[in-house]
Amino acid sequence: MLAYRHAFHAGNHADVLKHLVLAQVLRRMGEKDKPYSYIDTHAGAGGYSLEGRYAHKRNEFEEGIARLWNRGDVPAALADYVALVRAFNGGEGLKQYPGSPAFAQMLLRPDDRLRLYELHPTDHRILQAYLGHHPNTQVAQGDGFAALKGELPPPSRRGVLLIDPSYELKTDYVKVLAAVREALTRFAECVILVWIPQLQLVESAQLPHRLQAAADAQAPRGWLHARLTVRQAHERGFGLLGSSMFVINPPWTLHDTLQQTLPYLVDVLGQYDGANFLLEQRAA
Ligand SMILES: C[S@@+](CC[C@H](N)C(=O)[O-])C[C@H]1O[C@@H](n2cnc3c(N)ncnc32)[C@H](O)[C@@H]1O
Repeated sequence: MLAYRHAFHAGNHADVLKHLVLAQVLRRMGEKDKPYSYIDTHAGAGGYSLEGRYAHKRNEFEEGIARLWNRGDVPAALADYVALVRAFNGGEGLKQYPGSPAFAQMLLRPDDRLRLYELHPTDHRILQAYLGHHPNTQVAQGDGFAALKGELPPPSRRGVLLIDPSYELKTDYVKVLAAVREALTRFAECVILVWIPQLQLVESAQLPHRLQAAADAQAPRGWLHARLTVRQAHERGFGLLGSSMFVINPPWTLHDTLQQTLPYLVDVLGQYDGANFLLEQRAA
């Protein structure tokens, strides 16, 4: 049985970076008339209470979305992300946090397709109850890595793939790389977003380089890597220092958008003086 539950972490600094980038990518995808498929290999429960015992066990959202909630000076892309979280809360206070399927549900158009995979029985049940009845939406309890064979290429030949495992097991690093290579082999134009934890672990340090090599070999529109470091390294090697989003075939506007947004996130989400960001890309 899997132990990881995203409810403990919902709305933390890593979710802010991930969902900011996801929202920007889906906004750009929605600018062309042709429908697209959004495939979420590790979907989670879809939405999380910030008032329940899970969120309050570590209060991680207080060092993430809560720091942005009442600020009037946020850059445009971040303001758009916060507005989506507000919409999910019905315009009220910060009581719930949307997961990646909820961001997609808010941003996809009626003809776009949502394909959601979640292995944990409880989170799958919650996700199914939340989105299972929506048109053009499929919620499956299954292995998201294995599902790619059947999902790619998408019928409209336009697609976004989010790969967001918990990395609870080190084998996830290997599986992510294999999944990206397979996705690009099946559908080279796929826009692929991979979330990567920044840990004091060789696997997490190497994954961005391995993804770069895979994208250099197979992706026609290049790649972008955005990393936000908020915490100081612990002398015993514990803890999440920050996270990365690695985007393959990114929309061409994403680099400039993040260039304007990441310095602000360093200021607001940084937990020590050395908080920093990295933004690199190989454009097509
Ligand atoms: C980091 S969470 C996902 C968060 C979600 N993408 C979001 O942004 O709101 C990772 C999820 O993957 C699930 N999971 C783990 N292994 C899986 C697999 N092989 N296939 C599908 N889901 C898996 C876990 O149960 C967990 O809910």
